[in-house]
Amino acid sequence: MHLTVDQGDESWTGNVGLITELLEKVAPSPENAVTITCGPPIMIKFVMLTLKKLGFTAEQMITTLEAKMKCGIGKCGRCNLGEKFICVDGPVFTYAEIAQFLESFV
Ligand code: FES
Repeated sequence: MHLTVDQGDESWTGNVGLITELLEKVAPSPENAVTITCGPPIMIKFVMLTLKKLGFTAEQMITTLEAKMKCGIGKCGRCNLGEKFICVDGPVFTYAEIAQFLESFV
């Protein structure tokens, strides 16, 4: 496990910086691996782009998008991603399913 924080206090001895920088430094092998990413949509976007650069396929990259949900039962329409509703069709998706929507993850 590799940990990083945006800002560490005086007791933090681990990595400081963006997760994408740590990912590039660690450069995990995509061979026989899958990735699972959760967090704010902007972070998910850049983590997935970094994983793609490292050679992970769209099917190896899995994420959860519940941060974009409101009602959670398919009624409010606030979580749509194209023709999908995150709350009823997800919230877990592969990169292959959401790649075309990454630009809206801000
Ligand atoms: S969260 Fe309301 S429709 Fe999905």
